[in-house]
Amino acid sequence: GLVNTREMFKRAINGGYAIPAFNFNNMEQLQAIIKASSELKSPVILQVSKGARNYANQTLLRYMAQGAVEYAKELGCAHPEIVLHLDHGDSFEICKSCVDFGFSSVMIDGSALPYEENIALTKKVVDYAHQFDVTVEGELGVLAGVEDDVVAEVSHYTKPEEVIDFATRTGVDSLAISIGTSHGAYKFKPEQCTRDPKTGKLVPPPLAFDVLDAVMEKLPGFPIVLHGSSSVPQEYVDMINENGGKLPDAVGIPEEQLRKASKSAVCKINIDSDSRLAFTAAVRKVFADKPSEFDPRKFCGPARDEMEKMYKHKIVDVLASDNKL
Ligand code: G3H
Ligand code: 13P
Ligand code: NA
Ligand code: ZN
Repeated sequence: GLVNTREMFKRAINGGYAIPAFNFNNMEQLQAIIKASSELKSPVILQVSKGARNYANQTLLRYMAQGAVEYAKELGCAHPEIVLHLDHGDSFEICKSCVDFGFSSVMIDGSALPYEENIALTKKVVDYAHQFDVTVEGELGVLAGVEDDVVAEVSHYTKPEEVIDFATRTGVDSLAISIGTSHGAYKFKPEQCTRDPKTGKLVPPPLAFDVLDAVMEKLPGFPIVLHGSSSVPQEYVDMINENGGKLPDAVGIPEEQLRKASKSAVCKINIDSDSRLAFTAAVRKVFADKPSEFDPRKFCGPARDEMEKMYKHKIVDVLASDNKL
């Protein structure tokens, strides 16, 4: 069946790699995630956001994730480790409903609340979830950009001096921190970046590794999570723009920095936007090259293949979570 994150995070920290946390909303994404992780023998976290629950229906998503364990075995993965995780839960009720419903892990995101309220809410979720052996991710610090309904104009890095108190008083299993990543395909404004003189592409500022180091010094061996970690591959942005799309100045987190983070106590890296870009790039290309196609399998199929390729690249070349089952 589905597993929680406890053992997999311990192994990831000791082994110097990170577990991929991929969002899913539909069958093609799920197939691509499971094919990539099973063939490469990687543990994987399937994340469902509130938006995903509204789009795809919670019941369908739950059975799809449970079915994915069987699918992984069919693909030759004898001992798959698959987590079904609620992404950015914003209330006790939504977390409770996911725990009651068979999720093996939940996130309670109280990062926009005042500190003491974040602690109280997170502790309430932990106390409930742990009765059912469901692991809980909390968050300290604010990412710039959109977190579901919450739009933050400016980011606030996690304050290292708060993390011991937060982890101890809440009992969370892992902590999402803010060190300069953000959600979506526009992670930095052009004025925050420099430009590559040759390509004209934006070069983003580096992540605040000093903040990560300070957090790890306060909480040695404690599982750290990075949200907003899509790299926004320029090949997909170009493919989209060349085929009728319009994504000017989309920019993500350079993979080199994610590679570095994966070797540390960062043991969960969240990637959603890159999958959206791979899907859209492939679909736009089919539409441009073969305007007479109208069977959805003829464009969702290539989209699925492109996502699988992208997931495999992340697993092998960025997070190094392959051959860990
Ligand atoms: O945290 C954001 C994730 O990428 C989920 O996005 O709320 O549009 O499903 P969503
Ligand atoms: P990206 O938008 O960078 O893919 O981040 C996804 C995420 O953090 C989901 O919680
Ligand atoms: Na790691
Ligand atoms: Zn997130």
